[in-house]
Amino acid sequence: MKTIEWIDGLVRFLDQTRLPLEEQYVETADVGRLADAIKRLEIRGAPAIGVAAAFGVVLASRDATSPDQIRTLSSRAIQTLASTRPTAVNLFTALDRMSRVLEAGKADGSGEGLRARLLEEAQAIQKEDIDACRRIGELGSALILPGSSVLTHCNAGALATAGEGTALSVIFAASRKTRIERVYVDETRPLLQGARLTTWELLKNNIEAVLITDSTAGVVLQQQRVQAVIVGADRIAANGDTANKIGTYSLAVLAERHHVPFYVAAPVSTIDFTIASGAEITIEERAAEEVTWIAGTRVAPEGVSVFAPAFDVTPNELIAAIVTDRGILAPPFSRTIASLRSQPRV
Ligand code: MRU
Repeated sequence: MKTIEWIDGLVRFLDQTRLPLEEQYVETADVGRLADAIKRLEIRGAPAIGVAAAFGVVLASRDATSPDQIRTLSSRAIQTLASTRPTAVNLFTALDRMSRVLEAGKADGSGEGLRARLLEEAQAIQKEDIDACRRIGELGSALILPGSSVLTHCNAGALATAGEGTALSVIFAASRKTRIERVYVDETRPLLQGARLTTWELLKNNIEAVLITDSTAGVVLQQQRVQAVIVGADRIAANGDTANKIGTYSLAVLAERHHVPFYVAAPVSTIDFTIASGAEITIEERAAEEVTWIAGTRVAPEGVSVFAPAFDVTPNELIAAIVTDRGILAPPFSRTIASLRSQPRV
């Protein structure tokens, strides 16, 4: 299963809005279509939208011949893609990297050469994410004690990344070491990424998945049915405050109340070193219809007001550790994140 790939000048992606009922792949050469796919959550999850956006910039350059034309079309595409979703930092980091390739190509070369460098950069972003996911799994599985059951929220799996996932990569790696008993999965209202996507990935990997409504998480923790909570992230501030799918914060509070460790798993590309705390993270608000309708049926009266933030911010003091591709970070995160920034990449 490939969530997103580049095939001969086209982007091919799995339409996640149709899962688990249909596995339908979409191929497009149109960056506008790709931007819509990100907005509609056909492609979703922080690292996956970064990879998709990078390929989108390559698509935009397709019909241009001169380097100047490539720069004009690609810059326009970067603006369109940057306006799709505001919270996941991977989108902006990927677009910045593509912009830098455009800038660096100013002095020299042909249109073909510039386009090739754009594709190389997009493929590098994809490859780095695959490697990061693998590393997160290897490192994070050490935190899971044999015989553990764990709880997760939303989908931080292969569908959300270019590789095996972040939180799910830890679960997959721990399961390969036979450490995982079962995984409790929050359904993750309103768009049901847990119910539709995470359970689908776990079952495909022969891992027992127990689906719960979001409001059942309290009982699961109170009854000590899980030994860890592990989630992904959309943006992590320099002090460790973590934005992730709405409902993550409630889980972290519950985990603290019941003395269950709460872990975040994310690649270093999800850390936004430029912001001091979670207060600076822009939280996307989604359309009211995503709450008032379920699968084509209205479930709330017309005229009701809705508050629908897509993400929340978990304060760093509720997080036991952040599993990254460059090591497991322990509190105080201000210090461990800063030292990560100053270490050269190996
Ligand atoms: O709105 P979504 O489905 O894009 O939200 C996704 C999440 O919140 C994930 O937990 C996060 O992106 C981590 S993905 C490895």
